[in-house]
Formats: sequence, C-alpha cells, structure tokens
Amino acid sequence: MKDIIITTSVKTTLELNNQAQKLANELNLNYIKRNKTTIKQLLETVRGVIVIYKNKLSYFENDSEFFFHLDTTALKIKNSDNEPLIEIIGKEKQSVLDCTMGLAGDSILLSYYGHNVTSIEKNKIIHLITSTGLKNYISPNEEINKAMRKITTHNYDCIDYLKRTPDNAFDIIYFDPMFSHDITESNNLDGITPLADNHFPYDEFIKEAYRVARDKIIIKAHFKDNVFEKYNFIRIIRKNTKFHFGFLNINQKTKN
Ligand SMILES: C[S@@+](CC[C@H](N)C(=O)[O-])C[C@H]1O[C@@H](n2cnc3c(N)ncnc32)[C@H](O)[C@@H]1O
Repeated sequence: MKDIIITTSVKTTLELNNQAQKLANELNLNYIKRNKTTIKQLLETVRGVIVIYKNKLSYFENDSEFFFHLDTTALKIKNSDNEPLIEIIGKEKQSVLDCTMGLAGDSILLSYYGHNVTSIEKNKIIHLITSTGLKNYISPNEEINKAMRKITTHNYDCIDYLKRTPDNAFDIIYFDPMFSHDITESNNLDGITPLADNHFPYDEFIKEAYRVARDKIIIKAHFKDNVFEKYNFIRIIRKNTKFHFGFLNINQKTKN
C-alpha cells in the first residue's frame, strides 16, 4: 500500500501533524506535509490520500471521498424503517458477528436494537475510518452514540477470523459482501468502492460460518444473485429493492 499517503488538512496544527505521522508509521504508509497542495495535485502522483482533519478522517481516490457518516442509518432509525435484518433476528438480545463491516451501517442498526455486535473489515483503511468514526462521531441522538461505542471491530479477513473462532461462538453470522452487480441505488457506499474487497468465496465462508453460528447465518445480496438458492437460504422478497436478505437456520441436532 505504498501508493497511499497520509497528510493533514491545509490548516493544520502540530498536534494534527504528529497524529498523521504516528498513523503513517502504524499503517506503514508515507506521511507528506500538506503545505498548500490540493488533493487533486496530490492525486496526480499517488493512488490515494488519507487526510486527517480536526474532527474527521477522509480517504480520497479518483473523484471519490470516503469518510464516516450516518446518513442512511440515522434516517432508517428515525423512520423506524426496520430492515428485514432486524426482523429476521427478532427482539431477543443476540451476539452478532458482522463479517463485512464497511461503513458499519448494519452493525449500528443491530447494536441500536440491543444486539452485541462484533464487526470485521478486511481493508485497513476502511477499518481505520469506520472504527474511528464509531469511537468519535457525535450524533444528536444519544442512543445512536451508545450503539456506535458498543461495537467491537477487528481488521481481519473474516475467513481468518472465523477459522480461529470456536464452534457456536456467535448466535448470528452476517454477510453483506460487495454486490456481484452494480447497485446504483446504494450510493451510500460509493466512497468505499475503490478500497473494498470484491472477492468473496461463499463456499468457504458459509462452511466456517455454519460451524461458528449457533442460530442463523444471514446474507444480503443482489436480488439476481443465485447465492440464496445455491445455499438454501430463505429469501425475504422485497418489492422495488435491488437487494434482498436471506437466512439459513442452523440445526444444532444435525450440525455435528
Ligand atoms: C457492501 S460493504 C458492507 C456494508 C455494510 N453492511 C454497511 O452497512 O455499511 C462490504 C464490505 O466488506 C468488506 N469485505 C469484503 N470481503 C471481506 C472479507 N473477506 N473479510 C472482511 N471484510 C470483507 C469490503 O471491504 C467492504 O468494506
């Protein structure tokens, strides 16, 4: 990842410079003093730029900016527009492993509705920006703040995480991989597209998830994706949406 650099906002302080330098060391990336250089000028020589602002972290690549925000999630909570994800799991408090954290929209919803959430993200930069947002972002809704602070995150490939996790360790395992088809309606995730991992070998993931899950595996995928039928997931059909949820009940009696 040497072609990604870290810098600060143009208006900087010694503290921000030190933070950027420290983060560059941790992520093994180069720190560049910003001076008055524009992001556009920086992007002429490198693939991507992480910028540390006083209250925000952003990643720039091509024409996109990725930063932590709550837009869609806060709206869903405000409108009680509960996705099937919440309904499939039910009201009782469950331990959930979200194997594809991304911007953590689904993790926040799950945590908001009282579940214990552990979220895994493979990409270092996505993990950095989302986990920093979960710790520091301030929403006017105090319950959302509590929900964000409760989530535990790890920067791992979830297959490695699953492999080192004991049998039946989580009630629910959730997968929302990058879709196999373009989803223009999901521009909420636009910024992460250049970084996000698109490779998702379901066979291996579902086998491990079956071992680690106590109650259900849940997936979200494009409605044209054959993953639901291929792995016998019960699909929740939703009219006028391009992505569907599906779940697989774990039968503990036949499992071992
Ligand atoms: C569609 S996004 C998830 C969006 C998320 N549900 C939300 O509400 O913001 C998929 C994410 O999974 C990550 N990912 C893909 N393969 C992964 C893997 N093997 N392990 C962990 N994360 C992975 C991608 O980098 C991307 O950030």
